[in-house]
This record gives sequence, structure tokens and C-alpha cells, in this order.
Amino acid sequence: MTVLDHKDIRDAARIINDGGLVAMPTETVYGLAADATNDKAVAKIFEAKGRPQFNPLIIHVAGVEMARRYVELPPLAEKLMAEFWPGPLTLVLPRKQNSEISLLVSAGLDTIGVRTPKHELAQALIKATDRPLAAPSANRSGTISPTRAEHVKDGLGARVDMILDGGPCPVGVESTIVKIDGEDVTLLRPGGIAREEIEKRIGKPLAAGHGKIEAPGMMTSHYAPDAKMRLNAREQKDGEAFLGFGEIAGSGPASLNLSESGDLAEAAANLFAHLRALDDLAATHSLQTIAVAPVPMTALGEAINDRLVRAAAPRD
Ligand code: TXA
Ligand code: MG
Repeated sequence: MTVLDHKDIRDAARIINDGGLVAMPTETVYGLAADATNDKAVAKIFEAKGRPQFNPLIIHVAGVEMARRYVELPPLAEKLMAEFWPGPLTLVLPRKQNSEISLLVSAGLDTIGVRTPKHELAQALIKATDRPLAAPSANRSGTISPTRAEHVKDGLGARVDMILDGGPCPVGVESTIVKIDGEDVTLLRPGGIAREEIEKRIGKPLAAGHGKIEAPGMMTSHYAPDAKMRLNAREQKDGEAFLGFGEIAGSGPASLNLSESGDLAEAAANLFAHLRALDDLAATHSLQTIAVAPVPMTALGEAINDRLVRAAAPRD
């Protein structure tokens, strides 16, 4: 029996084809998936997440040929797809004329973000529905992204028709997003593929995004726990929970380590689950703040620091 025959996949595919919402595991985080060509289904995603309509969604496709139906593929895009798909790289590309993708997905922009996930269940769901799946992270807007099926259940509950449980997400931070405009390649969001790897492939540095709402996982406060956050902490103060990295570690009942060996991939995989756990522990032990050890800016460290800075940002 292949995964496509699996009853859960058949049930999930029926829900998608009927315009419903399915939470699916990907290698990065769980996504809240709907048929990207169905306006009503896409509108349900915004509603379930409480997401502002100006913040566009990315679509998940089976591979390059399926992407070609919906977006223009300049040579640089083909090069990056060949190297990094399936995997945590989203390409923002010009929308094809007469593209079937709902206009709600791209929130009025003339571009669409597209990726091919490297997860057996996500791939099976795309194949079983034969639809491009719009899928933002399966959490309420502004909260910590889900890397376990339980996180989705806690955050969205009955707002989602079905949750496909694929266990913990192996990468743990969202995809890297780059925008391709002819020869120009701009980094809109650091993520699961390190900047250095992309730059090696294209032979030049990535341009910096200008931080407008073009790249909104990019809203300043995002991924926010209830506790306050103190970053680049070299030691734990009284009244603090502690998120360690490598040798800089805390103690007491509310301390966890992203990676004792200082491994950035392990740290990324643990990031969101540890933040959630520490937020609960901080509440239990009446601690106001989660202090976080410094994490280097190399490789996946850029994405980890990006998420930490947003988690620590002042909230409205
Ligand atoms: O790893 C991921 O990318 C996960 C999994 C589920 O695939 N998805 C995810 O989706 O992180 P979401 O919606 O939480 O973040 C997608 C980001 C948003 O910040 C959105 O603003 C940006 O992509 N985006 C989508 N389409 C865009 C476009 N046409 N131009 C610029 N930014 C875009
Ligand atoms: Mg998100």
C-alpha cells in the first residue's frame, strides 16, 4: 500500500476538493491547506487564522511542472528549483496570465509564492487532490508556528476540518522566501535553506528585502509567546525562564536548551516547540520573561534570530 491509498489521505483529499481546510505536516511547520483555486476555500484560511487579507499566502505544488501552470519561470527560478526542490525554499514569481490561482491568495499582488514541500504526507495530499494547495502556517495569526499536530489542535481546534498527524516537523522553521525578478534575487524571509547555500548556487549575494509588507511573516510582532523575551542573554536572572544554546544554559524547572552541542539545524527543529513549552513553564512558575542565549547568525542561525527578534518585538 502506498501512502496515496492511506485512508487519512483519501479523507483529507475529499475535504480539500469539497472546499474544506486540512492541517498538513510539511518539513518546515504544519500548514493550513485549502484548494488554492477555490476563492471560498481560500477565504476560510484567512478567517480561521484571523489573518489580515493583505498578507498573501504561498501555494504548494507537486513540482516544477505544476508550478509552470501558475507562474512564469525565468532561468534563475529553474536553477533554484532544480537544486532545492522539494525543500524549504519558496520562490515569489510573476503570476501567469489566466492563472487559475484565486486572487485572494496573492492579496492583489501580481506575484505568487510557490514551493514544493519535502514531506511524504504533504506530497501525497497534493497528488491525491491534484490541486495546488494554499497553506500558511497552521496557527492563529501572530502566534508561535506549529511544529506538532498538538500545536495545531491547541491553536485552531474546530476551525480546521481535519489534522493529518505526521509527528514533529524535521526542519522546524518556515521556508526561505526569495523573490525573483529577471536577474534580481531578493531575500524576503530567511528560513530553512541557508542564505549561503542559495548564494553559492546563484554566484552572487542575495539582495536585501526592503521590509515593507511585501514580505509579511514580516510583520514586526509575530511568533509571540505570552511571556516577555530578553535576547542575547549570557546568564539567567532571577525571575527568568531560560532558552539556552550550546554551553550557555540556564537552570531550574523552566530552562531548556535549543541544542546542547550548538548544532543550528537541531536548534531550528526545537525552536517553536521549546518556546511554547517555556511559555507554559513561565506561566506555571510565575516568571515574567524568557531569556534566550545568543545564537550565531550563520546558516540556519539567520532564520532562528529572525523568529526570535519578532517574538521579542513590542506587541500592539
Ligand atoms: O514553510 C513555509 O513556508 C510554511 C509551510 C506551511 O509551507 N508556510 C508559511 O506560510 O510559512 P505563511 O503564510 O505563514 O508565510 C508565507 C509568507 C508570508 O510572510 C507572506 O507575506 C509571504 O510568504 N508571501 C506570500 N506570497 C507572497 C508574494 N506574492 N510576495 C511577497 N511575499 C509573499
Ligand atoms: Mg506564519
